[in-house]
Amino acid sequence: MTSTEVRTERVIAPARNILGSLRLPGDKSISHRYALLGGLAAGKTRLTNFSTGADCASSLGCVEALGAKITRSGEAIEIEGVGGIFQPSAQPLDCGNSGSTMRMLAGLLGPQNGSFTLIGDASLSRRPMERVRKPLMQMGADIQLTDGHAPMVIRGGKLQAIDYTTPVPSAQVKSAVLFAGLQAAGKTTVREAVRTRDHSELALRAFGANVERNLESVSIEGGQQLQGIEAAVPGDMSSAAFFLCAAALFPESNLVFEGLGLNPTRATLLDVLTALGAHIGVLNLEDKHGELVGTVQVNAPAGGLTGTTISGALAAQLIDELPVIAAIAPYTQNGIRIRDAKELRVKESDRIALVARNLRAMGAEVEEFEDGLDVPGKQTLHAAEIDAGGDHRIAMAFSVAALRATGETVIQGAESAAISFPEFFDLLDRVTER
Ligand code: S3P
Repeated sequence: MTSTEVRTERVIAPARNILGSLRLPGDKSISHRYALLGGLAAGKTRLTNFSTGADCASSLGCVEALGAKITRSGEAIEIEGVGGIFQPSAQPLDCGNSGSTMRMLAGLLGPQNGSFTLIGDASLSRRPMERVRKPLMQMGADIQLTDGHAPMVIRGGKLQAIDYTTPVPSAQVKSAVLFAGLQAAGKTTVREAVRTRDHSELALRAFGANVERNLESVSIEGGQQLQGIEAAVPGDMSSAAFFLCAAALFPESNLVFEGLGLNPTRATLLDVLTALGAHIGVLNLEDKHGELVGTVQVNAPAGGLTGTTISGALAAQLIDELPVIAAIAPYTQNGIRIRDAKELRVKESDRIALVARNLRAMGAEVEEFEDGLDVPGKQTLHAAEIDAGGDHRIAMAFSVAALRATGETVIQGAESAAISFPEFFDLLDRVTER
């Protein structure tokens, strides 16, 4: 955080019920990809319901600094792409708090002529970047880091295709390699042991590229030119997660989401909530550029949520939802056990440590593991001062936990919600009955 940013606190009082209907701003992951690929493509990309979060603004800012023209026309964002060749920028490219921007941009810029410097805020400058440098170096890129971290200095040039197996389940790493592969000589293949979100594969196809997929690999032939698209970005499931979990806590609740992104690699939370006993209805399914979109209704079970274990592939698919799942775990009957989620330690904060610390501040019992947490059920939480640690998902997860606590909880660093979801507190007020 820089000295010009103001820390704000939010007071969250207990709720009686959650009721209403929401249409959420566009998915962060999809918005990043449409902004970055729209910047590279030939012609105009016109996007509606683009993410309102600061992270996606970082992606737009970077492609603009690289020569794409960005205009806002009413609700829409228009991007006039560079047609395959980015202009090196004299200034460093500021990725802000956004790991997605930095990692995916590295893949786009590795094969471009010129020198590019990518920087980020204090949190992003602590996050591991070697994971993208390694495959891109294997393709022939020249990338310098400091101790494995940003700033990232890329001296771009011609790259060769590779066949790469990702050592960590990471859609950002997969995307960086595919974006480099799009511009490399030959056919690039990425293999992953655990299937991560596939928005890049779908977005590349939407922009006209030929992408081959089978169960555990995805391949792209280099030298393909992208063409701009018109798209409405589906509502963000990871933002909906806070409201879905809030509604699941109140037996009389009824919450409906329209136009919500339901890509199967992102909608695992609906299965978890169903396993916990919540009633989830899905209707009006549509395909938008390969992305599934629909209406979702959630009602809580009369007897409270049961309990579950989240591990293996499930942990990777739920990686952004785990903080809020852990934050509501004390209110379940049998508790929630999370394993195989050590990636949580290298997100915008160490999310395992921060979730455990904040749950304890609210009086909960919780056991911390290197790769997860055990949170017993049937606990009563009390109000506390929560430290969001500059992490948007921690601020929002504990605002949800506060709805069932006794007393008024104070979320310190509430402004961080704006990284992905600036409307969060207003919408929470709108659907909360007190
Ligand atoms: C994202 C992938 C995930 C996720 C992040 C967004 C993406 O990160 O945590 O919020 O859009 O590809 P990793 O791929 O590094 O696990």
